[in-house]
Amino acid sequence: MSDTRAKRRFRSQEWFDNPNNPGMTALYIERYLNQEYTRGELQGDRPVVGIAQTGSDLAPCNKIHVFLMDRIKAGIRDAGGIPMEFPVHPIQETGKRPTAALDRNLAYLSLVEVLHGYPIDGVVLTTGCDKTTPAMLMGAATADLPAIALNGGPMLDGWWDGKLAGSGTIVWESRRLLAEGAIDYEEFMGRVCASAPSLGHCNTMGTASTMNAMAEALGMTLPGNAAIPAPFRERMAMAYETGRRAVDMVLEDLKPSDILTRESFENAILVNAAIGGSTNAPPHLQAIARHAGVELTVKDWETVGFDIPLLVNMQPAGAYLGERFYRAGGVPAVMGELLAAGRLHADARAATGTTMAAALGKARSTDTEVIRPFDNPLRENAGFLVLSGNLFDSALMKTSVISKDFRARFLSEPGRENIFEARAVVFEGPEDYHERINDPALEIDDRTILFIRGVGCVGYPGSAEVVNMLPPDALVQAGVNHLPTVGDGRQSGTSESPSILNASPESVVGGGLALLQTGDKVRLDLNTSSLNALVSDEDWAARRAAWTPPELHHQTPWQEIYRTHVGQLAEGGCLELATAYHKVARDLPRD
Ligand code: FES
Ligand code: MG
Repeated sequence: MSDTRAKRRFRSQEWFDNPNNPGMTALYIERYLNQEYTRGELQGDRPVVGIAQTGSDLAPCNKIHVFLMDRIKAGIRDAGGIPMEFPVHPIQETGKRPTAALDRNLAYLSLVEVLHGYPIDGVVLTTGCDKTTPAMLMGAATADLPAIALNGGPMLDGWWDGKLAGSGTIVWESRRLLAEGAIDYEEFMGRVCASAPSLGHCNTMGTASTMNAMAEALGMTLPGNAAIPAPFRERMAMAYETGRRAVDMVLEDLKPSDILTRESFENAILVNAAIGGSTNAPPHLQAIARHAGVELTVKDWETVGFDIPLLVNMQPAGAYLGERFYRAGGVPAVMGELLAAGRLHADARAATGTTMAAALGKARSTDTEVIRPFDNPLRENAGFLVLSGNLFDSALMKTSVISKDFRARFLSEPGRENIFEARAVVFEGPEDYHERINDPALEIDDRTILFIRGVGCVGYPGSAEVVNMLPPDALVQAGVNHLPTVGDGRQSGTSESPSILNASPESVVGGGLALLQTGDKVRLDLNTSSLNALVSDEDWAARRAAWTPPELHHQTPWQEIYRTHVGQLAEGGCLELATAYHKVARDLPRD
């Protein structure tokens, strides 16, 4: 035992070892003895490290953590701590209806309550599937106990017909082929299932890989944690080392508030652009920042990250999947390239207890086909534009996915470069879209922008990944695979559609999108980061005056609680009242 340990009194000792209150101490301790602990351990001056278990049969993307648990616990024991695993409300992106996004804040809330109300001195956060990562980091930020995240890792690479089959990305591609009539239902199913060959989360640079890269870029994991595929032996080793490190972080009292600074969030924004990360990262990072009490706005994504080039050649923006990314050096190599280019905050703190630069060491790409050097990227300007106008205060656009063909045909008119004027076609949610998209009366052609509304945090509820809408079948068959789409929902991180999404405020709370009508002319101007309905001020005001908010139908009590307290995507889609609470685990609950 180190000297620091002998001198510190742990939070858990207020439960398990409080001679001033023998009655409560006995009550707290006796039931823990009937499982795997002795009195000697619980009263032995050893920190309790909680392990937030996000894996279960309902959460297959994170199920690997059930098998990593022995190694995490061994690491905690070997470093002198006492491990205590506890369950987290499941958040399975592909299982929870109406959307897993509804449950991020619920898992967050319950984690905060566990970290506050139980004898826990530090925590290992198991992450993986899309929302599990932000939910865990948001909770750790609010509690402010020493915390370190451990990813479960991506699945092995999927293959179909001799070609890589990436999670999610193959769904969007196969849907197009099905719409074109090029494949049948059986082949469609075969292609999609081939993309999931092992335990682990999505193997593309979708929201799961992105958010785990964000956790690493923020400094909330050991270096190299994000990219190790789930079945690899290195994943087991990472679980063990993360457990060990969690104990030392308690002894050093290294807390999220020491690591989550403005600099670390800027590092995450820079890394997101370089990896071609998901458009879901901004709301999740925003939520983590707000719970950590760090100033960050949606516009920071453009000002800090827009000019960062795309370095990582991984689907959906590029060609490869998780195994190649891992072998090329993973997130440390990407950060190493940014650091060498002078585009990273080298002094940000990391979970290692050192600066980020020291944590990265000499990490650089070992396979420049997959992780490019900064001065020879796959694409320039891989960050997001943050648009505004009369339809919303802010919405995100990943301009790097606009096809060369679209640019040449519509964005290159001399004197009107980067400007696209089109006719709006508006859908009230995904059901309406599916019902009417092939209706010839809508007169959708390649000068149309598709809008979808009512799918934000309050509207859906939870904000749905539905903005990446396919054009009508007839247009797809004629070779028009993408139309610009706009909505107050999100889109899957595995989709490469040039969408304008996360529009805030959303339509059901009265955002400008609510006033748009099919047939309106709209103007997208990438020079000024704006999108506007070309409707006269008088008409717009008249529509505003006539607008009434739609009636919301809640199906569960949580849906009602969520809708009552949730904010907009631009502000992270947080439970607004929760953002006032900081460092809550520092404040001991009553006996
Ligand atoms: Fe869980 Fe992609 S669906 S990680
Ligand atoms: Mg998703």
